[in-house]
Amino acid sequence: MKVIVTKNYEDMSKKAADIVAEEIKKNKNIVLGLPTGGTPKGMYKELINKYNKNEVDFSYVKTFNLDEYVGLDGNNPNSYRYFMNETFFDHVNIPKENTHIPDGMVKDPDGYGKMYDEMIKQTGGIDLQILGIGTNGHIAFNEPDEALGIGTSVVELTKSTIESNSRFFDSIDDVPKKAITMGIGSIMKAKKIILLASGESKKEIMNKLLNTTSVTTYLPASLLHLHNDVTVIMDEDAN
Ligand code: F6R
Repeated sequence: MKVIVTKNYEDMSKKAADIVAEEIKKNKNIVLGLPTGGTPKGMYKELINKYNKNEVDFSYVKTFNLDEYVGLDGNNPNSYRYFMNETFFDHVNIPKENTHIPDGMVKDPDGYGKMYDEMIKQTGGIDLQILGIGTNGHIAFNEPDEALGIGTSVVELTKSTIESNSRFFDSIDDVPKKAITMGIGSIMKAKKIILLASGESKKEIMNKLLNTTSVTTYLPASLLHLHNDVTVIMDEDAN
C-alpha cells in the first residue's frame, strides 16, 4: 500500500484528479469504478475543471459506481444516480449510457447483482477504482461483519453508516436501511485502486488500517492489503 499524505482536502482532491486524468490519457477507453459521498466531491470538481480546460476527454470512458440505496430511484435527490449526475456526469462529456450505477429499484436484487458484475466483466474489468472509507472501515457498503460478499449484492446498512449518512437526508428515519453494493471480490478485481480519506473523523480508522498486521472482515478496508496496486491519498487531518 502506497500512502500519500497531503496538506489538506484540496490537495488530496487535486492529487486524485491528476491520477485519474493521467490514467485516462494513457487509455481513453478506461473503465473507472467510482464512489459517492462527501470525500470524492473535490476530486470530481477538479476533474470538471480539467475538462473545462480541455485537459481530459471523457468521450470513451466507462464508469461503474460502487453502490446505491435500495428503494430510491434515480430521480430521488438522495439517490447516488442523482448525486453522480449532479456532481459530475452532467458537467463533462461522458455519454450517459457509459455510466452505470446499481439500480436500487430492482425486483430481483440477486439476479441483478450477478448481471452488474457480468457487465463489469464484459467491459474488460475496472482499470481504476476510487474508494472512500467509512468511519467503521467499510469500503463501498461492505460493512464490518463475520463474512463479506464477494459479488454485487444487497446488504443491510449498519447503525453507524445510517447515522453518518443521515447528514445528507432531512431526518435519520429517511435513510434507507439497505443498499446494493459491489462486493469485496468485485473491488479487488480492479487493476489499480485509490483510497481517499479526509478529515478528523477518519483519523482513527485510517490509523487502524495503516497499522494493522492482519486482514479481517471486521475491518473491510484491511482486505486492500492483499491487492498489489493500492494508493492511499489522505489529508493531514486524517493522518
Ligand atoms: C459511497 C461509498 C462509501 C463511502 C464512505 C465514505 O459510494 O461507497 O463507502 O465512500 O461511506 O463516505 P464519505 O466520503 O461521505 O465520508
